[in-house]
Amino acid sequence: MKIKKVLVTGGLGYIGSHTIVELVNKGYEPIIIDNLSNASIKVLDVLEQMLKIKIPFYQIDCTDSCEVNKVFDEHKIDAVIHFAALKAVGESIQKPAEYYYNNLVSTLTILKAVQAHGVKNFIFSSSATVYGNPIHVPCLESDPIVNATNPYGQTKIINERILTDYSNIHKDTNIALLRYANPIGAHSSGKLGENPNGIPNNLMPYVSQVAVGKRDKLTVFGNDYPTKDGTCIRDYIHVSDLALGHVLTLEKFETDPGLVIYNLGTGEGTSVLDLVNAYQKATGIKINYTFGPRRDGDIPTNYLDVTKAKNELGFKCKYSIEDCCKTAYEFQIKHPNGY
Ligand code: UFG
Repeated sequence: MKIKKVLVTGGLGYIGSHTIVELVNKGYEPIIIDNLSNASIKVLDVLEQMLKIKIPFYQIDCTDSCEVNKVFDEHKIDAVIHFAALKAVGESIQKPAEYYYNNLVSTLTILKAVQAHGVKNFIFSSSATVYGNPIHVPCLESDPIVNATNPYGQTKIINERILTDYSNIHKDTNIALLRYANPIGAHSSGKLGENPNGIPNNLMPYVSQVAVGKRDKLTVFGNDYPTKDGTCIRDYIHVSDLALGHVLTLEKFETDPGLVIYNLGTGEGTSVLDLVNAYQKATGIKINYTFGPRRDGDIPTNYLDVTKAKNELGFKCKYSIEDCCKTAYEFQIKHPNGY
């Protein structure tokens, strides 16, 4: 069966919105659900103008079973991409009940609607965080998943478990657990990008705000880690490359693979200082920084082996780390106060 209509939860968020672009470019027909808790309705206008189409949009919460089922009743949905979730690691430690409730109940609500409406394709936004403090790097899909270092990560692990159990009994349903590296950068048009509320938690948006003078300097959290320059190492992937990984997964679903797990990253480890240097090189702007104490819960090194996604999906990153920095900067310049 050819997949056409794709329900995208969290479709106005950072990864969701970039994925909508890639889906439409490949001829899919997305339907968006977003509760706008961490996204702007203006993103819908941006998408519709960029793509020159109308996109069905529902401002509803994925934990609201009644509203969610209405959307499934209204559209003949072929596949679901479930991005909608709370995602701030630090906040999840402060608000475990909210994180477990939102991230688990939303998946269960969507999954029950999927089951009730006979949808056979489901992509779940998982994270490299499921590897916890990895036993080796690069992390492999076959590595043990034991415990994450925070409630946010735990919700990803539990959701993976729920979907694996579902897949065990629903053999005719294709389920992909996509474990993301750290998405950064912005759409090459400069029209879409990362737009955090308040002080950015993540490295790249913080660096961009320093670049445009919105913040004085970056604090690099820790320079005494057992890494080449003492700062943490991550795998930073351009958000449009990550978005394309979802389209490739939908194409894979046409072969009825059942349950699949893929790491989506670049396969390269980049330290905080490497990223700062790449940003300076790409933009010509000096990024002021100081070293501060380690941040609770950070692990020294995490990057992903992406051989499986390369071999089985044809997944390949197009953007370099400098491209990521350049596009992030361009978005920041064009949107000094967000959308
Ligand atoms: N960092 C700084 N200063 C800052 C912000 C971050 O030095 O102001 C450092 C962090 O300590 C870390 C690195 O930059 O070493 C990356 O931090 P991010 O917060 O950007 O990203 P994380 O690796 O902590 O987490 C991100 C997402 C998670 C996801 C995880 C997967 O926030 O949702 O990647 O690896 F699960």
